[in-house]
Amino acid sequence: MDKKKRRAPARASRARSAGSVGASPAPDLSRIVDEVRERYGRIAEGRESGCCPPTSACGDPVGAVAVTIGYKDRDLEVLPAGANLGLGCGAPVDLLDLRPGETVVDLGSGAGIDAFLAARRVGPTGRVIGVDMTPAMLERARANAAEAGFTQVEFRQGRLEALPVDDASVDAVTSNCVINLVPDKSAVFREIARVLRPGGRLVISDIILDGPLPEAIATDLLTYVGCISGAAQRRDYFSLVESAGLTGIHLYKDVDFLAASGYTFSAELQERLDREGVRRADLEGKVRSVTFRAVRPGQ
Ligand SMILES: C[S@@+](CC[C@H](N)C(=O)[O-])C[C@H]1O[C@@H](n2cnc3c(N)ncnc32)[C@H](O)[C@@H]1O
Repeated sequence: MDKKKRRAPARASRARSAGSVGASPAPDLSRIVDEVRERYGRIAEGRESGCCPPTSACGDPVGAVAVTIGYKDRDLEVLPAGANLGLGCGAPVDLLDLRPGETVVDLGSGAGIDAFLAARRVGPTGRVIGVDMTPAMLERARANAAEAGFTQVEFRQGRLEALPVDDASVDAVTSNCVINLVPDKSAVFREIARVLRPGGRLVISDIILDGPLPEAIATDLLTYVGCISGAAQRRDYFSLVESAGLTGIHLYKDVDFLAASGYTFSAELQERLDREGVRRADLEGKVRSVTFRAVRPGQ
């Protein structure tokens, strides 16, 4: 892990790294959050299939995909129907070592899959707060909680960059394939450090990059909302974690995110890749699915 401190990448340089120079314009970062909210709203309402990334694996049964990314069958079996929309890229809750009575926050909780898994571990005396900005996703998650009788789970509307959670009030934070979607990642890690009690920990699954993406992908809005082109470079990402005051970074998982789909993309994206001459070798190994741990130092 690179321990050198680096400044958070500014929006302008993120736009450049997303390939604003060239034939196609980079995604407009000021529109990104609205686009993300709209797309995940359509997924929550069942108007669009969920997939992260936009690969041909989108058509696979979500249960099968969940097992591939690390969920255990025995956990999936006890979830409320509809909590798993196939939007994650890891299984972070298993690695949080949650204990009965603890309080945990799930950032970008979607339909509630990880919040419910956390609820089973903290038990009725614990507390789980799911935070998401998409109204339809919150509605779905709340309906799932009511159906399954999870009284210790609450879903709050809010942005990861300004969490609706008190200072130093939680034991643990988790998030699954969400921070790559947020343009201001430094704000997210500062917020995580703020809400964790001293000694609290986080386990996060997310997408990061090892090297620049071909412009056809870096400038594609579909691949941004599909969890690829919004991802930060590895060194920048973990510098932001450290700059927020979070320490002890430990990587549990670090795999090629696109390998699971055999690098087969949705028809629309594949057409663009073919048109712009992007080959599999241009992508191989660059889009990483990671799961890592860190702590807020102190007692
Ligand atoms: C890829 S989905 C992951 C959902 C869930 N973690 C899972 O694994 O099923 C991303 C979720 O994060 C939410 N989200 C994205 N950006 C956000 C932001 N800046 N603030 C709050 N929620 C956000 C979206 O509404 C969506 O529900």
